[in-house]
Amino acid sequence: MKFCNTLNPVAVASVALLGVADAFWRMSCGRVQTGRIDPIVTPGRISGHAHTIVGSNNLGINSTYDQLFNAQCTSCEIHDDMSAYWSPQLYYRYPNGSFVDVPNGGTILYYLGRGVNRNNLTPYPKGFQMLAGDAGARSYDNTTMTWGNATYPNRPIADRVSFACLHEGFLPEKPYMFQTNCKNGLRAQIHFQSCWNGVDLYKADNSHVAYMSRIDEGVCPPTHPFKFVHLFMELYYSVNDVTNQVPGGTFVFSQGDTTGYGFHADFQNGWNPEVLAEALKTCASNEGSSGAIKECPILRKSNVDNFKWQCPERAPQIGEQVVGVMDKLPGCNRVTSGPERAGAADMSCPADAPKPSVTSTVDTVPIATVYPQVGEEAGNPGWEYLGCAQDNATARALYATMGSNLTTMTVESCQNFCAWKGYVLAATQFGRECYCGNYFRDNKTPNFNATGCDYRCAGDLSRTCGGSSKIEVYNNTRVTPPPPPTVQASSGKFVAKGCYKEKTGGRALGNYSFASDTMTIESCSKFCLGKKCRWAGLEFG
Ligand SMILES: *[C@@H]1O[C@H](CO)[C@@H](O)[C@H](O)[C@H]1NC(C)=O
Ligand SMILES: *[C@@H]1O[C@H](CO)[C@@H](O)[C@H](O)[C@H]1NC(C)=O
Ligand SMILES: *[C@@H]1O[C@H](CO)[C@@H](O)[C@H](O)[C@H]1NC(C)=O
Ligand SMILES: *[C@@H]1O[C@H](CO)[C@@H](O)[C@H](O)[C@H]1NC(C)=O
Ligand SMILES: *[C@@H]1O[C@H](CO)[C@@H](O)[C@H](O)[C@H]1NC(C)=O
Ligand SMILES: *[C@@H]1O[C@H](CO)[C@@H](O)[C@H](O)[C@H]1NC(C)=O
Ligand SMILES: *[C@@H]1O[C@H](CO)[C@@H](O)[C@H](O)[C@H]1NC(C)=O
Ligand SMILES: *[C@@H]1O[C@H](CO)[C@@H](O)[C@H](O)[C@H]1NC(C)=O
Ligand SMILES: *[C@@H]1O[C@H](CO)[C@@H](O)[C@H](O)[C@H]1NC(C)=O
Repeated sequence: MKFCNTLNPVAVASVALLGVADAFWRMSCGRVQTGRIDPIVTPGRISGHAHTIVGSNNLGINSTYDQLFNAQCTSCEIHDDMSAYWSPQLYYRYPNGSFVDVPNGGTILYYLGRGVNRNNLTPYPKGFQMLAGDAGARSYDNTTMTWGNATYPNRPIADRVSFACLHEGFLPEKPYMFQTNCKNGLRAQIHFQSCWNGVDLYKADNSHVAYMSRIDEGVCPPTHPFKFVHLFMELYYSVNDVTNQVPGGTFVFSQGDTTGYGFHADFQNGWNPEVLAEALKTCASNEGSSGAIKECPILRKSNVDNFKWQCPERAPQIGEQVVGVMDKLPGCNRVTSGPERAGAADMSCPADAPKPSVTSTVDTVPIATVYPQVGEEAGNPGWEYLGCAQDNATARALYATMGSNLTTMTVESCQNFCAWKGYVLAATQFGRECYCGNYFRDNKTPNFNATGCDYRCAGDLSRTCGGSSKIEVYNNTRVTPPPPPTVQASSGKFVAKGCYKEKTGGRALGNYSFASDTMTIESCSKFCLGKKCRWAGLEFG
């Protein structure tokens, strides 16, 4: 598989020799939190640098298996996997010293049946956790090797990390951030250890786990005879979406690393043990699979579509800024480029620096989603659920908007907003958008026959807030709306049609126009009637 031949030319040749068909599954994840959290390395404390976290939405500084397992949801596709996975957040440093976060393009986790003895995989035990990579590395370590012998040659452990720059043409992958102008994104990749000593759930130096001789193939060392599935993680960064890039700017990982040699990732197990065991047996050793979850019956059961929207990014547990433009890296990490290692002093704040607040992680239970029935009261008292309908972004059925609220949207807040604006109809969409109106566009009731209104509300995971181009509409039955505006004049009558997007680079209704500080619907209509026009449109108040 191409994604594993990420290594130096010598290594690529020897991996290619093996040429085995692989069995695996591949799981996509959205980001669930960003912040200085790392319950593996710094349990109970704020971690030294900011992480991009995917998986269980209950990850906090104290997380345990039970907490993860009982989280409300996971931002990954398979809901029987409540594990958490995290890696350093990537930033861009402007020449003036400010930092800005690099947009996250998603994470993919590969569970691969690899290496000798791959038909006898041990499921991750409850409480198991591990760390791959070395946050302090700033150069390639060619001397620390995996275990190997004459039959199964070893290789540098540093090969666990690699980068792919998705640009024009094929650029060979390298173990450091070799190019950051990547039109289709920069992909950081890391292999986790797949051999276990069979005893420890975790050791601070990670000596409870070890790599196979070739990292993604080969044998386990005699000291670590238990074989796990081979876990491989890919993280996408939309590097070219960072605005105002200029010569002298540089990409830097949250622990102050401009090289990428210090890329690392953590895994805290939250799998349903029976499901994982069954999946390893049935889906990690049937060769030639495409990796699609739907090919694995036991995983398909808890596979969710729209996983990102089912478990949206939650508010950070640590009360400090980690995205947007900042004057320092969270945790005061010093920016270093090697080749010498970064030490603890490079990666910590002065003792007297202010400490951000920490929101307690609360025990939770998986949240069931409540789907209202058509005709039922839902949300605030008096609001009736009308159903789920296809919407059209260029001609919305309801066209007054409150915009989107990334982490706070609920059915009730949308209804409140619409009521406050004087509207009786409220519609949610995309998990975070709200639209209002008193009448549907053209007075045409939408067809409430759509499916796909399954995006959980960003601010209330127990409810849905529409879907992609799908609205869920509520009617405030306690209030009678004013009649639709019409303008009667001797030469005709104007009837309200609704709100439309103005043409870009010109006017949709371009023949005649005027602007006035005393504009009314009547004055506009009369003007247009006078010009013998069929259409009249108002904008900008
Ligand atoms: C540095 O430059 C960036 C990009 O132009 C800007 O957003 C930021 O505010 C600047 N920082 C300072 C301290 O001027
Ligand atoms: C490791 O890298 C150093 C510095 O580039 C080089 O001098 C040395 O020969 C390399 N060792 C091996 C085993 O490749
Ligand atoms: C290498 O290690 C494997 C696995 O432990 C073992 O089966 C094999 O005999 C070893 N080969 C040599 C040449 O020592
Ligand atoms: C972490 O655990 C400790 C010990 O149980 C507890 O005192 C503390 O409040 C917890 N912190 C958070 C943020 O949950
Ligand atoms: C959306 O509305 C626009 C404007 O009325 C129309 O041209 C377009 O065909 C509609 N699209 C769909 C998919 O209905
Ligand atoms: C949405 O966000 C805006 C801006 O933060 C806030 O003023 C408003 O109250 C929020 N509305 C809801 C419904 O949460
Ligand atoms: C729902 O109604 C719309 C508009 O009448 C129609 O285009 C669409 O095919 C219908 N969809 C289903 C699933 O019946
Ligand atoms: C909303 O409820 C009112 C009061 O029951 C009713 O007259 C009106 O027709 C309803 N509107 C829609 C679009 O169903
Ligand atoms: C309005 O503009 C359109 C398009 O430019 C043109 O075809 C039409 O004749 C104009 N109508 C009047 C009344 O000027």
